[in-house]
Amino acid sequence: MVQLDSVTKVYQKKHSSVTALNEFDLQVKKGEFVVVKGPSGSGKTTLLLAIGGMLRPTSGIVTVNGNDIYDLSEKKRAKFRAENIGFVFQLFHLLPYLNVYENILLPDGVAANRAGLTEVKEILDRLRLTDRAYHKPGELSVGERQRTAIARALLNGPDILLADEPTGNLDSENAAQVMDYFAGFHNNGGTVIVVTHGNEAEQYADRTIYLNNQLL
Ligand SMILES: Nc1ncnc2c1ncn2[C@@H]1O[C@H](COP(=O)(O)OP(=O)(O)OP(=O)(O)O)[C@@H](O)[C@H]1O
Ligand SMILES: [Mg+2]
Repeated sequence: MVQLDSVTKVYQKKHSSVTALNEFDLQVKKGEFVVVKGPSGSGKTTLLLAIGGMLRPTSGIVTVNGNDIYDLSEKKRAKFRAENIGFVFQLFHLLPYLNVYENILLPDGVAANRAGLTEVKEILDRLRLTDRAYHKPGELSVGERQRTAIARALLNGPDILLADEPTGNLDSENAAQVMDYFAGFHNNGGTVIVVTHGNEAEQYADRTIYLNNQLL
């Protein structure tokens, strides 16, 4: 389902470079729930972005659902991402000038499996956002923003959910709720890879992998 073969990512700056991932190997099976842990700067976000088709590694191969994703054209990769992968970003990445409804529909445009109005209504309902559908992110609580980001990631029924510290800014009640959504997705056969410092995810996780970049 997800396979990384000797993936290296070097961020090149003018006068310095940072090796965020160094010949990293990983195999995640379909339906697995994997937690990623590691200190700040150890490459967790880099790893998720590389798996999510948003960051081309310096070397190595990333295979998702049998596709060498960086071998695809940019356009095909964007389509593949929209149809197969749900991504919850570390800082939500909601567009401030779009309301909840519009933010949720954002990646939908490029997907062939486009969601209908019923699905949008359903996901708003499931994430308790129906009453906030016409609010912009600035008019939402942090928990509501996070649920909007999760609704957006789940709308097209992805196979894989990648989430970068989805509970980092939430109180324990909201954090537990987020993990319940992830567990539901997982129970329906979805593959989950989640970066978290907290312990909420571990009761659901099949295993935890630790990143510890010694090169920094
Ligand atoms: N665009 C970039 N340009 C240069 N260096 C970068 C860039 N993005 C990340 N890095 C560096 O790569 C390393 C890994 O970053 P990454 O964001 O993957 O860490 P992380 O494990 O997600 O950290 P955190 O827990 O703080 O979110 C860090 O040392 C960071 O400074
Ligand atoms: Mg990070």
